[in-house]
Amino acid sequence: EGQTRELNDGHRIPLLGLGVWQVRDGRQCEDAVRWALDAGYRHIDTAQVYGNETSVGRALRGSGVPREEVFVTTKLNPSRRDPVAEAEDSLKRLGLDYLDLYLVHWPQGGPTRAWDGMQRAHQLGLTRSIGVSNYGVPQLGTLLRSASTPPAVNQVQISPYEFRRALLDESERHGVAVEAYSPLGTGRHLGSREVAGIAEQHGRTPAQVLIRWSLQHGLIVLPKSTHRERIEQNAQVFDFELGPDDMAALDRLDRTGGTGDSLEQPWW
Ligand code: A2P
Repeated sequence: EGQTRELNDGHRIPLLGLGVWQVRDGRQCEDAVRWALDAGYRHIDTAQVYGNETSVGRALRGSGVPREEVFVTTKLNPSRRDPVAEAEDSLKRLGLDYLDLYLVHWPQGGPTRAWDGMQRAHQLGLTRSIGVSNYGVPQLGTLLRSASTPPAVNQVQISPYEFRRALLDESERHGVAVEAYSPLGTGRHLGSREVAGIAEQHGRTPAQVLIRWSLQHGLIVLPKSTHRERIEQNAQVFDFELGPDDMAALDRLDRTGGTGDSLEQPWW
């Protein structure tokens, strides 16, 4: 879980993080984050619109893990006017004095609209890194052409079934690291026969195979769970390796046709 990679701004990011989308504010979220930290996760991914920043913050502070050891991401609701004010509010809810990563949650409304404010939040030290989420190839291109600080990260939904290889390649070509959210297809892909077959060969679970696939494609991966044993299981992915045949078989499950600009209908 301690493995990291360097972002284009020099900061390091842990390759595995706990995603807390759809985790209920309060006890459920606090427990999940606390169990993750106990299991060795050092990266938590939340967002304004998840409504659970307060619980994330409470779990972080209660864990006794030093602030500087944990990588904390939250996301701007870009329909709000002022990214700086929103970052300050998120920090207050989290009980922190800086974010590690602040993302524009989605491009709808204009892929560059919030970026000046994001850069200001960065310059003010409210966040160490800035990036985007749910950006397809055209939107990323538009932003990269006008940004003075390029995004460090693009967080999108990726799994073998939603590979979006063109988006992955295009992001990396511009030095933008890609984070995979819903790497288990929000759980839909855990029952896949192909995934189960590979899991069996390795004596692993389908979740571990899907997470490992993401890692071997150079992705930062953000599985979500609210169950302690699953949170622990999802972190046991640095002690085995999928072979080239396994990877190729999983790659073939792709239904996005290798394109990067066919992001699914947004959930918001
Ligand atoms: P739960 O939160 O009840 O544990 P994704 O990360 O793609 O969004 O997938 C999250 C979904 O997959 C959640 O419904 C979660 O259920 C389930 N899940 C996460 N990890 C595992 C696991 N190791 N085994 C089975 N289900 C899992």
